[in-house]
Amino acid sequence: MKRLFTLLAATILSVAATAQTLTSPDGNLVMKFELTKKGKPTYTLSYKGQDVIRPSALGFEFVDNAYENYGAFYHTPKRPIYSMREGFSLKGTETASFDETWQPVWGECSHIRNHYNELLVKLYRDERKFMLNIRFRLYNDGLGFRYEFPQQTSKRRTYFVIKEEYTEFAMTGDHMAYWIPGCYETQEYEYTASRMSEIRNLIVTVGENVGDSSKKIFSPTGVQTSLQLKTDAGLYINIHEAALVDYACMHLELNPKTNVFTSHLTPDALGYKGWMQAPCHSPWRTIEVSDDACKILASKLTLNLNEPCALEDTSWIKPVKYIGVWWELMLGKNRWNYTNDFKGVKLGESDYTKVKPIPNHGANNANVRRYIDFAAEHGFDQVLVEGWNIGWEDYYGCKKEYVFDFKTPYPDFDIVALNEYAHSKGVRLMMHHETSSAVRNYERHMKEAYQMMNHYGYTAVKSGYVGDIVPMGEYHFGQQMVNHYLYAVKEAAKHKIMVNAHEAIRPTGLCRTYPNLIGNEAARGMEYNANEDAGINPHHAATLPFTRLKGGPMDYTPGIVNMKFAEQTTRKDKARRYVRSTICNQLALYVTLYSPLQMAADLPENYEKQPAAFQFIKDVAIDWDESHYLAAEPAEYIVAARKAKGKSEWFVGGITDDARTMPLSFDFLEEGKSYVATLYKDGKGADCITNPHTYTVTKGRVDSKSAIDIWMAHGGGFAISIREATSADKGIKPLK
Ligand code: NOJ
Ligand code: CA
Repeated sequence: MKRLFTLLAATILSVAATAQTLTSPDGNLVMKFELTKKGKPTYTLSYKGQDVIRPSALGFEFVDNAYENYGAFYHTPKRPIYSMREGFSLKGTETASFDETWQPVWGECSHIRNHYNELLVKLYRDERKFMLNIRFRLYNDGLGFRYEFPQQTSKRRTYFVIKEEYTEFAMTGDHMAYWIPGCYETQEYEYTASRMSEIRNLIVTVGENVGDSSKKIFSPTGVQTSLQLKTDAGLYINIHEAALVDYACMHLELNPKTNVFTSHLTPDALGYKGWMQAPCHSPWRTIEVSDDACKILASKLTLNLNEPCALEDTSWIKPVKYIGVWWELMLGKNRWNYTNDFKGVKLGESDYTKVKPIPNHGANNANVRRYIDFAAEHGFDQVLVEGWNIGWEDYYGCKKEYVFDFKTPYPDFDIVALNEYAHSKGVRLMMHHETSSAVRNYERHMKEAYQMMNHYGYTAVKSGYVGDIVPMGEYHFGQQMVNHYLYAVKEAAKHKIMVNAHEAIRPTGLCRTYPNLIGNEAARGMEYNANEDAGINPHHAATLPFTRLKGGPMDYTPGIVNMKFAEQTTRKDKARRYVRSTICNQLALYVTLYSPLQMAADLPENYEKQPAAFQFIKDVAIDWDESHYLAAEPAEYIVAARKAKGKSEWFVGGITDDARTMPLSFDFLEEGKSYVATLYKDGKGADCITNPHTYTVTKGRVDSKSAIDIWMAHGGGFAISIREATSADKGIKPLK
């Protein structure tokens, strides 16, 4: 491990010397910081001499904190606001360089280089007697900066309340944007590709299309991060945040007249945006820049800006490939609830032994055993079971505090016997904690729930936050909820439990510090193809790696091999429900959507009917030594090649929105070695809507000099598994 940290200079500057320049290690990116005459902090960013960010202001508004008045704060509606946007003087700067290579517990590659130049700017607001530092880190792939609030000299300044953060990202034009609406509650929107100026007209339609999630769109020109942009000159710019801890989630508000995005924090129930105690700091604001879309996908900026792993022992954290009692619930074939008899459930009072069970409760002993058998036969690590615990009869929309106890199984789910059966077959059950967003209730039960998981041998939990947050008025993405999600991950680590949280805050690279956070949803995933009319259009999956995946892996749940499931669902509008994807597109998602947690989401009976495609899902690795993005364009196509961890095996995946032919060179392979590739590609006439199930499987020899063209259908793709050739493979011809 290489580590180098040099303090280049620590200068106390005179008030006149207010402009500072920071250059990336390769010299391509240049960041300039300047304090204007009015004492307003500003910055610019350029890439290879081209402007990326025009002069952009940095700062805040605070609510005057009546620390001395104790309880009076909440109910005094008009508290004085004071500006932290100008009037600063420069007290000093420090510069440093850092270069280290670290090894993630799991990841897209086994080694990550963290190499940057740093500038720390120390500011002082005399009038308010307030100290504010801004730390900039410039990498070859982008800029990170954060606000740091050092220990202040009085209690009144130590505790401060943020009304709004005003960080600007001034664009140089009306770029293409790949966005979802700015919302305090959910990210489960389909991505839209449009000019920045078109966001205002499109946001209403896009915003309606979010199913049952709670939602709160805050403005007709607000968008969420990670936001991908592309200039007419072909520059890719990505804005996000890293290490979101004890702070509200940042969105972006666009001024379409000036092309300036300004930060917009998620408020709490009272409308305040941050309760701070110095010393503390904001998350990093990140701007990735490249003229090559593949380099944006390969960037490790978000991870690098997070703290190193906080867990001493990580030997229990393992990538997981799983199946589950899940898609059948999504299809409406089976149900989460046990009975229809209760109009409302009161835990501890509602007697489940006296009710009539429905005929299709999914988490029943026989059905779960069937999944365990299937997992054991086909080499899956875990079986997720949803709807195993009491309370589902009115879990949604009830807005009550005590929805689930996370420990009492339904009468037809024998938790002891099923875990024993799974373990006897080398498989584990995966726990499910739907919280129904009653977070205080979850926190009260969490310790016991995790202890129970330890007792029965569960090592991973899928948690969920469906519905409005209880306590009422809080939003999914506010500071308190941000703290809750991390609390759940940290407490889980104490019990050696891996977490995959759905409907939680979108990730910001915290999986580096807490690698037991192996998954998150925080975007529109496969479930929308089953339970919403809108479904998912093919460009969406080709956008996710540029946006949602910037912060960490997604539990997208790919692997559907029966796209037209009218005959499988009891839903009334069944004809409208289908997956807009070819089988090969589904296979490729295991490679293009990186995750150490991958589900084979379809029903066992559907996999039995598609043994060839299923073979790829069984074979594909979920942890990697190397990853190479070979071709990419947001919302259009992505081709990635990855080398399995510790093995001489490669997997390649390609997806597309429209039909296209993709040239593929195998130069990522080790020179001089011969390999056998199995290529799964869309069959003639394949199309994600009209003909999704046709594909071919071909075997052929490849080496680092091989190159082929592969046709992909509309909403189609291809997948390749590659292993080293042996003498037994002599007769195999070159891949075509
Ligand atoms: C929404 C989640 O995304 C989905 O996977 C889960 O099955 C339901 N909530 C129920 O918890
Ligand atoms: Ca969801």
